[in-house]
Amino acid sequence: MNESSLHGRRRIALSFGLAAALFFLGPFRLFEFSAWDFEALISNLSWDFNPYADEGWYANPDWIPWGRALILYAGAPLLIFALARFFGGFLEKGPPILARLPRRWKIVLAVPSSILYAGFAFAQAYAIPIPLSVEAFWWIEWYDHVAPAMEWIRTESPFLLFPGLLAAGVWLVYYAFRTMPADGKASRAAEGLRTAFSVVALPFLLLIAVVAIVTGPRAVRLFAEGGLSAFENKCFGCHAESLPLYLIKTPAEWRRTMATHRDIENLALTEDEENEITDFLLAMRSYSDKETFQTRCLRCHLTDFVRWEDRTPDDWAAVTARLAQWSPYYYRRDVREQVVAYLSRTRSDQPSTFGLDDKTYADFMRVGSACSSCHGVSLQAERYRNADQAEILDMVRRMNVKFADPFPDEKLEDVAATYRGLIQDPVLLKELFPHDQPVEGSVLPW
Ligand code: HEC
Ligand code: HEC
Ligand code: HEC
Repeated sequence: MNESSLHGRRRIALSFGLAAALFFLGPFRLFEFSAWDFEALISNLSWDFNPYADEGWYANPDWIPWGRALILYAGAPLLIFALARFFGGFLEKGPPILARLPRRWKIVLAVPSSILYAGFAFAQAYAIPIPLSVEAFWWIEWYDHVAPAMEWIRTESPFLLFPGLLAAGVWLVYYAFRTMPADGKASRAAEGLRTAFSVVALPFLLLIAVVAIVTGPRAVRLFAEGGLSAFENKCFGCHAESLPLYLIKTPAEWRRTMATHRDIENLALTEDEENEITDFLLAMRSYSDKETFQTRCLRCHLTDFVRWEDRTPDDWAAVTARLAQWSPYYYRRDVREQVVAYLSRTRSDQPSTFGLDDKTYADFMRVGSACSSCHGVSLQAERYRNADQAEILDMVRRMNVKFADPFPDEKLEDVAATYRGLIQDPVLLKELFPHDQPVEGSVLPW
């Protein structure tokens, strides 16, 4: 054995070692989460949790161990070959080892790993839509489109993903084992093959890029590693571990689940474990306050929300509650709590009085809030704008009898005068009480 072939072997070992290390640090971590998504999907389908999928052939718990193994390991050979080929280009002298192998050996390596990869692509195609649907849920939830849209993502989108994943696999084989001719120019046939694969694989890679951008916020999944092992150790025994992964909850609801498990089910958890598992669940199956705000408010306020004045947390709650009058489900309580939490954290530092002195502002807000507990404070405001104090006082008296907590009689003069001042300036009125009236028309058609 001479000096240079030893060096050659070392280089080859180095390129394969690097490839394997990179695989286990990178894609493998991601596949662990995919494997959980897959298990959660299949086990919950097979328990009839989902009313739509009771007779789906895929709703079979026997799939779980196979699916998990395929996702975790079956893509490994091809990905490692491709990475090794990539490093080989830099590290090995001459063409990389995989290109130098005799054709027979290429077939021996490529065919079985491609067959394994096909199984990987199949199971992955079912796992990928899960984080997608978690991400999409908050955005597609309007009227009754939720169930059909979620159903489509879960049952139809795998058929789009599967061919794309397969094409990417074929391309990986070609990339890993292709032979470069001595003059560095690929043959016409090889050139044609490469173009054909790019045409098939490129749209898929674009799709993956789009998915990566859309699910960007969920990249936090990858940093929930401690939580993953705590979850694997602590969340089984009483029910399948994957049961919690069927649910999408707000952060407060997940904290409540953890607290009931600790206090009522007497689950022994250290504080660290509890925090880690909570973080894991939040990363896998929840929305941050910010995301909730973005989905519920930014479709109309994308450009102007940066210019909003700061408001007190109570006022943010009131603004959001007024929106709920027009769309009670879309702005239901858990959603409102998150929106208000986000706005209180980020937009309440220096609450504005909208150019008014403190007393006038406080008076306006007190009367306006009292009236808007039943209907918009601007209801028929144009009619009363030019009315005299007596007419307004008469109306306020009529309203006061409806109040659960009425103003005392001697205050009614003041209330009427304040109301009169408040409705004088329609622009100010709108600033103080946004969403007092339903929004007519929208940038989006719903
Ligand atoms: C000591 C037994 C036990 C262990 C261990 C356990 N659970 Fe549970 N879990 C239960 C019981 C009992 C129920 C059913 C309660 C019910 O539905 O009323 C349940 C139900 C659930 C539910 C569905 C009801 C809900 O609150 O949404 C979730 C989610 C859940 N568990 C999450 C977890 C998580 C996360 C872990 C790991 C930290 C875990 N469980 C570990 C006993 C356990
Ligand atoms: C369907 C579209 C739409 C949605 C959704 C929406 N808004 Fe508005 N919002 C409007 C319109 C229209 C105005 C009035 C703008 C004007 O007065 O010119 C407004 C005004 C406001 C204002 C006052 C603007 C200012 O300059 O001070 C605030 C604050 C506000 N909205 C908060 C919210 C919050 C919080 C949410 C989410 C919980 C939300 N909006 C969701 C359409 C929307
Ligand atoms: C407890 C619920 C409730 C509260 C609080 C309330 N209203 Fe009303 N308001 C109603 C109802 C119901 C109607 C429609 C029936 C009616 O006219 O009495 C109405 C109608 C009105 C009208 C149109 C009809 C009219 O009488 O001119 C105006 C203006 C009005 N309210 C102003 C106010 C003002 C100003 C306040 C605050 C001082 C207020 N409301 C507080 C329930 C309420």
